[in-house]
Amino acid sequence: MPLLTVLRDRFESERPFDGMVIAACLHVTPETAVLAGALRAGGARVVLAASNPLSTQDDVAAALDDSGVEVRAQAGADRDTSSAHIAAALDSHPDLVVDDGGDLVSTLHESRPDLVAQVRGGCESTASGVLRLRRMAAEAALAFPMLAAGDTPVTRIVGNARGTGQAVIDGILRSAGILLAGKTVVVSGYGPTGEGIAECARGLGAIVIVTEVDPVRALDARLRGFRVLPLESAAAAGDLFITATGSTSVLGEAEFAAMRDGAILANAGHFDVEIDVRALASKAVTIEPSVRPNADSYELSDGRRLTLLADGRVVNLVAAEGNPPEVMDVAFGIEALALGWLAGANLPPGVHEVPAELDAEAARLVLAATGTQIDSLTPEQLAYRDSWRVGS
Ligand SMILES: NC(=O)c1ccc[n+]([C@@H]2O[C@H](COP(=O)([O-])OP(=O)(O)OC[C@H]3O[C@@H](n4cnc5c(N)ncnc54)[C@H](O)[C@@H]3O)[C@@H](O)[C@H]2O)c1
Repeated sequence: MPLLTVLRDRFESERPFDGMVIAACLHVTPETAVLAGALRAGGARVVLAASNPLSTQDDVAAALDDSGVEVRAQAGADRDTSSAHIAAALDSHPDLVVDDGGDLVSTLHESRPDLVAQVRGGCESTASGVLRLRRMAAEAALAFPMLAAGDTPVTRIVGNARGTGQAVIDGILRSAGILLAGKTVVVSGYGPTGEGIAECARGLGAIVIVTEVDPVRALDARLRGFRVLPLESAAAAGDLFITATGSTSVLGEAEFAAMRDGAILANAGHFDVEIDVRALASKAVTIEPSVRPNADSYELSDGRRLTLLADGRVVNLVAAEGNPPEVMDVAFGIEALALGWLAGANLPPGVHEVPAELDAEAARLVLAATGTQIDSLTPEQLAYRDSWRVGS
């Protein structure tokens, strides 16, 4: 993770977080451990809760505890225990927060309003969390500034579009054990995540159909050569369905009724609400669990069988290894840069973009770490760019 390594060294000398507490709610994985190490090198006390107990690695949690990061997480913890862990992380009285999905920030506002005044701000790591924060801000319920770190041009290019696309297909192949070539794959949602999945599936020889609600994104998908259909029409055509919308109940009763025997369902969205698993279970006459690792078979009354992967949870996290460390390096590197900047900034409450120069700085450092050099504008080109007097 070269970007975080450079930043850890920088933080060690600049100490931007001296005397501060950072409460984070993230996947408890080795990549998060590297981020926590960089923040500690910058002088922070770091307290970590899990954003998803299914991805918590207990050995990482133990190693982090040994290294001085206070971890409140346990693999497979139920909903109540996970909520208690988040509450315990908040007991640290944080100055800065890092969230992944919005649970830490919403709990802080709902259950610990006494802590709000101390929080200078924080970062949100994922698109679904940013949507949630925007809904809070729209109701004037967000009391401090949050940077949309999961939503910068660089995270969208490296993280969502490239890393997640590959990782989601990886999770599906491990759990479904199918050959993707020649299969019809229906990708719902053509944001950066859906785009990465669609590109990756096409690269492996699949026929890809995209379903969308946004005309701009749908046009983009069509002009990139994907078939764009309403889900109602796509439901009968797909061998594999992948949701990546950030929305809810995208695949429900009507779609299950239209699907072919043997269809496979997977979710890449942050929350496990995109496939209506309850409706699927209620329509099933038998459920055969674990027909393969992370794959359950649902037999419907007409004899068709649908296979649900990873219980409808984020398939790349449950059935594969999440995103590759190189991807998390960039995502967390941007968060670390953003937190360092936020520690000395004074922003009003609300959702803010990460400043473009921080995003560019991350890209510059990653290029340098990979030995990639680029050009810079000459003085003549700079003068041309900055002047309105010169036309042709
Ligand atoms: N699996 C992972 O590791 C991973 C990584 C990054 C993001 N995510 C998650 O994936 C989801 C999508 O992320 P994104 O960055 O692409 O978000 P985005 O908001 O940019 O894109 C989502 C797209 O889905 C479309 N959409 C919404 N509702 C729809 C519906 N009912 N039917 C069809 N299309 C619909 C929207 O118009 C939009 O174009 C989010 O939940 C995000 O948190 C997961």
